Amino acid sequence: MKILGIESSCDETAAAVVEDGHRLLSNTVASSMHEHAKYGGVVPEIAARSHIEVIVPVIEQALSEAGCTWDDIDGIAVTYGAGLGGCLLVGVMTARTLAIAKDKPLYACNHVEGHVYANFLTSTPLPGYALPAEQPKFPLLALIVSGGHSQLVLFRDHFDYTLLGQTHDDAIGEAFDKVAKILGLPYPGGPSISMAAAKGDPYAFNFPKAKVAAKYDYSFSGPKTAVLRAVQELCGKTHDFPSFELAALLNEAQKADVAASFQRIAVETVVDKTIQAFEEFSPASVVIAGGVAASPELRRQLAERLKAAGGPAIAYTDPRLCTDNGAMIATLGCFHKQLARPVADPYSLTIAPNLSM
Ligand code: KG4
Ligand code: ZN
Repeated sequence: MKILGIESSCDETAAAVVEDGHRLLSNTVASSMHEHAKYGGVVPEIAARSHIEVIVPVIEQALSEAGCTWDDIDGIAVTYGAGLGGCLLVGVMTARTLAIAKDKPLYACNHVEGHVYANFLTSTPLPGYALPAEQPKFPLLALIVSGGHSQLVLFRDHFDYTLLGQTHDDAIGEAFDKVAKILGLPYPGGPSISMAAAKGDPYAFNFPKAKVAAKYDYSFSGPKTAVLRAVQELCGKTHDFPSFELAALLNEAQKADVAASFQRIAVETVVDKTIQAFEEFSPASVVIAGGVAASPELRRQLAERLKAAGGPAIAYTDPRLCTDNGAMIATLGCFHKQLARPVADPYSLTIAPNLSM
């Protein structure tokens, strides 16, 4: 069974073909990230226009890279939420049109669930991909960390899960993006904070971890403000000084220390909650998903703490499958089809920008 996955919820236009929920046959991604870099974040209108320009060639490339014609495709999976409205519309309208024209079943996929399913890919003929040897097992604890989402979810089985906790404000990736902006580091913030942090002292600053009453919830607004205050102090400026002018007053060593210290506590925050949930629920597998799952610091801290807690060895997927991609949606689509989940009506499927888990 081969499923074509289409993803357009944010700034990546992506399509991929996945076979039987575990074999990656192609993975095509066109990103408009460079067009947003000068604004320090994604501009929805620019992203949507870019999707319109490239979605058809991206799908054609995904099919040809997989060596497939439309006859080989058993269904189309598309992200219908959560995401930016204008961006989701392009993917959903394209998928609806193709489902009608090519007479294929259509599967409406939740973007955040999709991120988790990137971890189910275990083989590929594509060169250079590092994939886990085995699929994760249920019960499965998933730490979902991206630019738009920070959630801890317990899956009892496919499509049967409980949201244990989430951020009260910024997602962790969003917090990285905002701290990078304060430090004058390029967008997206996760990788640039990670690069700057490599030369810094993670204990140079003791930024506070936010205290939140609900057991598995957390918050990044306090730590982010603490970074701003620390930078103002380093620069000898008060809170009324324009924050976008602070970065020019910092030297490279100061930026590296702030980046390393913030990265340490941001990662510790989500790892603390994951270990707590591991101890309470004893899942058979633990996975991380979403753009920030590519973070080497998150991978290092989680593997170390999970081992110390007597947990399973954690297998990480290829960083290209952590950020937005069509393969995760195609994989989730395979399970929709395999488990005979309801198909979407190609004449009426609508987008759900605020879809939750
Ligand atoms: O999953 P994703 O591509 O899009 C959303 O669904 O939000 O995640 C994007 C986020 C951005 O905030 C970016 O800063 C972060 O993932 N990110 C990383 C890395 N690559 C992307 N964070 C840390 N380390 C990375 N290597
Ligand atoms: Zn995403």
